[in-house]
Amino acid sequence: MQNVQAVRLTEHVYAVGAVDYDCRSFHGYATPRGVTYNAYLITGPEPILIDTVKAPFTRELLDRIASVLPPESIRHIISNHAEFDHSGAIAAVAKLSGAKVYASAAGVKALSAMYGALDYVTLAAGKPVTVGGVTLTPYATPMVHWPDNIVTLCEIDGKKILFSNDAFGQHYASSKKCDVENDLHDVMYEAEKYYANIVMPYAAQAAKALAAAESLAPDIIAPSHGVVWTKHIPDIFALYRKMTAAEKSNKAVVVYDSLWGHTVELSRKVGAWLEDTCDSVLYFDLGKTERADVMAELVDAKYLAVGCPTFYGTVTPEVAAFLAYLKALKPTGLAYTVFGSYGWGGGAVKEIDAALSAMGYAHMDNLDNLQQVY
Ligand code: FEO
Repeated sequence: MQNVQAVRLTEHVYAVGAVDYDCRSFHGYATPRGVTYNAYLITGPEPILIDTVKAPFTRELLDRIASVLPPESIRHIISNHAEFDHSGAIAAVAKLSGAKVYASAAGVKALSAMYGALDYVTLAAGKPVTVGGVTLTPYATPMVHWPDNIVTLCEIDGKKILFSNDAFGQHYASSKKCDVENDLHDVMYEAEKYYANIVMPYAAQAAKALAAAESLAPDIIAPSHGVVWTKHIPDIFALYRKMTAAEKSNKAVVVYDSLWGHTVELSRKVGAWLEDTCDSVLYFDLGKTERADVMAELVDAKYLAVGCPTFYGTVTPEVAAFLAYLKALKPTGLAYTVFGSYGWGGGAVKEIDAALSAMGYAHMDNLDNLQQVY
């Protein structure tokens, strides 16, 4: 039987969310280390729940809350974000306990559409709310990751705790809740991958959220996915500074698909050319690689080479999917080159070139549009 004991973070604050060790796809984003849906309980005369979990994990949430106090005794639920992975149990907990549900105006609108009438309270950004002697201050962080997102600061037990929701999250399931109890290298990689696959299109808004978080100088950052940041807050802040500024390493990413191996051969030629100017060149066969892993590398890559054989006059489905994902996630500051093989007629290279150019990436002069017949 799974351990449903809440994890005590401070005297009055507990982690009570769910751990999904088996999740391998978070709406298409590959999650080899699983996923958590974090929720937090603040005890006191009027218990407060910060966020909930994805709906199928409602029982686990209730059991973990019950390890501290009866779920029926919750009086207030703060919804930092209405997306289903955090709001999935809101209606169940609110109906069970009669708790009020606090959210931004956009959050209340979204939750009302998703779960119907509950006892909603609209939060104003920067305006503190005090319930049962506990003061919570919401800060607007729109588009990190939806328009409704807020983060909530609570000063309690001599600590400033920032409940940061998607910001600073990682898809990383562990039996240990805090950064210091886990492998920092793995956690930081998952934080970077999470940023690349969830937050990157909104880098400007993420930079503002980061600046706001830094100015609050929290002692603990409790995100809605992954580990809780304590000792390594300076590390996650530094990583976010680098990522939101699109700071680059001298790195190239070569991605390709192949039908008979010829485009793989070309990828090595392109890579050898890039090795002359880059410190590292990474190769990804799109037919064998999760696109979320490629995106994690593109956060700080300077160069992108895309190779594809011509497949019935166009690109292969793997390359088409990669281009669609790239267009959605919008890594910035890339220079690109294109290569590919073809049999009786080309087309793929031209199509990729047009797609990357339309995304606003810089065209590289040398070796561009390398093509080979068979
Ligand atoms: Fe983890 Fe945007 O939800």
